[in-house]
Order: sequence, then structure tokens, then C-alpha cells
Amino acid sequence: MWLPTARGTGINRPAYQATVHGPSFLRWAGSKRRSLATLAAAYAASGGHYVEPFAGSAALFFSLSPQSALLADLNGHLVNALRYVRDCPEEIYRRLSKLGRSEIDYYKIRSAFNNCRPFGIEAAVFFVYLNRNCFNGLWRTNLKGEFNVPYGGKEIGENPPLALFEVCSTSLKRATLRHQDFRKTISSVAEEAFIYADPPYFTTSQRVFVEYGSKSFGKEDLRDLIKELILATRRGAAIVLSYHHSLIADALPSTWRKTAVQVTRNVGGFSGSRKVETEMLWTNLPIESVT
Ligand SMILES: C[S@@+](CC[C@H](N)C(=O)[O-])C[C@H]1O[C@@H](n2cnc3c(N)ncnc32)[C@H](O)[C@@H]1O
Repeated sequence: MWLPTARGTGINRPAYQATVHGPSFLRWAGSKRRSLATLAAAYAASGGHYVEPFAGSAALFFSLSPQSALLADLNGHLVNALRYVRDCPEEIYRRLSKLGRSEIDYYKIRSAFNNCRPFGIEAAVFFVYLNRNCFNGLWRTNLKGEFNVPYGGKEIGENPPLALFEVCSTSLKRATLRHQDFRKTISSVAEEAFIYADPPYFTTSQRVFVEYGSKSFGKEDLRDLIKELILATRRGAAIVLSYHHSLIADALPSTWRKTAVQVTRNVGGFSGSRKVETEMLWTNLPIESVT
């Protein structure tokens, strides 16, 4: 866990008191629910315009509900769903509640999603439905771009209540939503911003392919991410980067502080189980790590 140092942040921003607002309406593989308290402490030390270039379920964004934000992701269906929940939470809830949740229903809706008009309200409802009812909240597509994650079976819970869609909509109304690559997002960020970068793990193994579809996050992406974050630091941004091991530590400025957090990950694809792993958080904020 991080705490602000007695010296203050050294960055000229108004103090921000972190409060927990609520969960995301989405489940997401690699979501940072377990490290939210540590991440919220980092945002409390910074405040400012919140930027998440790898939004996913935007768990930290929804728990902080910042006054202004930029959320971006390369997954266009995800960004489409965020836009419709922002603009018409009741309609999304109403349509979602009408969909059956048996295994047979699931596969019919998965097929309808793969054949519907991309990026309309129907696609948004199906996206939320599939996220809530598929295996482990995974997103995976085949080479044709079709979503192919199996039914979640016993693990699926209730649909989110209308109140959660409404709370998420209120938070999203203060955010700009972009379907774009992280390079474009981070390079657009000026001073006074807080950037929380939670990229997919870079690995050559099957697992990342399973979690994120055919466009997995490669070595060049990781190199560019570090480069963009360092440039943003020079422009005055506060940065928090989550990553799974210290392989990248040598590439980061030695003045950045780190702390370990626990995350839950899927292991072994669809047939595997979930495992708690240690992940590192790095920051350029002058905050202390306490355990
Ligand atoms: C680990 S998840 C983020 C999880 C998120 N912090 C949460 O709370 O759920 C990584 C996200 O990065 C997105 N992504 C992958 N490659 C990207 C890229 N080049 N630019 C932007 N987003 C990307 C994926 O679609 C995925 O949503």
C-alpha cells in the first residue's frame, strides 16, 4: 500500500480525498479490484485529470469517479458499451433484463452479437451480456474477429442492478471516451494529468492471446509504452504503471517508487483456474510504500 509522504507530493495539484464510489458494471480479466486501495492512495497524492489508456472495466475509474477523465481502449466494443451506459443506462438495463441466461440462450446471443451491426445499442447490450455471462469475464476473438468465449456456467452472478448502471453513467458523463491505441492517448496528455497504465502482460505464451484476442501486446508495445510514459513525466504528468514482474524495472527511471500488490489471474485458458499472483506498481509520485 502507498501513502503520501510527509513532504507532500511535490507536484502542484489540489489535494484529492479518495472515496470509493462503486464497482464497474463489467467484469474484466486482469482487473485491479484487489489493488484499488493502493491505487486510490496514489490518486489521492496527485488528483487532477484522470487518464486510463488501457481502460478495460475501468475498475479504478469507477471507484474514484474523478471530476474529469479520459478513458481509452483498443477494444471498440468495450468503448461502445461505455458510451451507451453513459448515455442511456436505463435502456441498457431494460434490454439486458429481457435476455435469457441459460447456456442455450448464451450461445444464441453470442451468435447474434457476432452478426449484429457493430457499435450500436444492440451491440452494447450484447457486449455487457456476454461479459457478465461468459467464462471469467474474458474477451477473446477468433481470427475472423468473432467473440468465442464459452458460457460461464455456475460462476455467473446476477445482472448488475439499474442503480449500478446509473452510478456508472454519472461517472462516465465526466469522461471523454476514445477507441484508440495507448500511444495516441498518452501522447495527448498534458501536465496536471494522472495516468494509470495497466497494459496487458507481454508474453509469447498462449495466455495473452486467450485474454485479449489476436492483437496481443508485444515487445514493441511495451517499449513504446515506457517511452511515452517517460515523455509524459517530463511534461509534468503523475504516472502509475502496473506490471507483472520486474523485467521492465531497468527501463524505468530509478527514481520511480514501487510496491507489490496481489492480483487474480486466469491460468491455463478456459480449462484452467484462477491464481493469485504478485504484481508490481511503479510511480513517479513521491509516496511511500507501507505493508
Ligand atoms: C489489463 S486490461 C486493463 C484492465 C483495467 N485496468 C480494469 O480495471 O479492468 C488491458 C486492456 O488493454 C487493452 N489494450 C490492449 N492493447 C491495447 C493498445 N495497444 N492500446 C490501448 N488499449 C489496449 C485491452 O483491450 C484491455 O482492455
